[in-house]
Amino acid sequence: MNELDSLVASAQQQFAQAATPAELENAKAQFLGKSGRVTELMKGMAQLSVEEKKSRGAAINVAKQAIEAALTARRQALADAELQAQLKAEALDVSLPGRQRGQGGLHPVSLTLERIERIFGSMGFDVAQGPEIESDWFNFTALNTPEDHPARSMHDTFYVEGGTPEAPNLLRTHTSPMQVRFAVQHVKKYRALLDAGQAMPEIRVIAPGRTYRVDSDATHSPMFHQCEGLWIGENVSFKDLKVVFTDFCKTFFEQDDLVLRFRPSFFPFTEPSAEIDIQFQTGPLAGRWLEVAGSGQVHPNVVRNMGLDPEKYIGFAFGMGPDRLTMLRYGVNDLRLFFDGDIRFLSQFRS
Ligand code: DAH
Repeated sequence: MNELDSLVASAQQQFAQAATPAELENAKAQFLGKSGRVTELMKGMAQLSVEEKKSRGAAINVAKQAIEAALTARRQALADAELQAQLKAEALDVSLPGRQRGQGGLHPVSLTLERIERIFGSMGFDVAQGPEIESDWFNFTALNTPEDHPARSMHDTFYVEGGTPEAPNLLRTHTSPMQVRFAVQHVKKYRALLDAGQAMPEIRVIAPGRTYRVDSDATHSPMFHQCEGLWIGENVSFKDLKVVFTDFCKTFFEQDDLVLRFRPSFFPFTEPSAEIDIQFQTGPLAGRWLEVAGSGQVHPNVVRNMGLDPEKYIGFAFGMGPDRLTMLRYGVNDLRLFFDGDIRFLSQFRS
């Protein structure tokens, strides 16, 4: 291999070893730069004769072109590699699943409350909301449960000082205070009619909401839900209660053969009073009596506290447990699951 051939080979080798464009430019300078080896060869021709210059010059030129070709090829190769690396770094994996927005949903007890409101709404009942921080008067006294009444002891709750209607002092133990609250508003609204001796529109309302008691186990939570119902008019009877509540239960559970039992009981604010049990004819709970509500004919003292004449106005009330209804509907046996806030449990209920 002559001197020029080995120069070309050396350039090709060094270019090939250059891993970056900067390294390549350094290598180029060694051969083609101002004091590079090719330039030195050119300068070395000064003393040669014209003939010699011709042939030597041509040979050097061939070598120079070969080196330049090697440089261009390596430049291109490095640029290609850089582009490939960039493309790889910025690559989109179109098979990767997109980011999804988590879909929220209603709490199972909220689904039940909506269901209750829809069914009673279709039977002409209003829906009313009342305060969770309630006064002694509405929670107990107005409901025929005076201060020393033993029934209060079953409703232990969270108290503070106070207790007049204007100074709420406890967390309500049931939704029953809404009976008197709603009725008083209703009577106020129709005062003029009543004063003129005319009939007022019937009171037909349900009042769902949160309630509180000092109670905690698999079937009791210190915070739980109730839904009150009240129907007062001049000619509303226990028969109406049975029809309305039976209809409600059959619709709620979508079971036409559901059987209801009205079991005599006691509540201070109703007389007579009944607890309402249901019995499924099919499914895992078939044959068992399950308590779902308290009910009764509104006590005359309560009717009086509503601002109405108990000789003229009569009706019934009921109070049910939406938490219990939710457990029965979905077959859940621990109430605490509903309030632990575990999304894995709660997201299983969609309708
Ligand atoms: N308030 C009662 C309770 O929490 C339930 C109840 C019973 C409500 C009878 C009523 C009723 O409206 O008539 O135990």
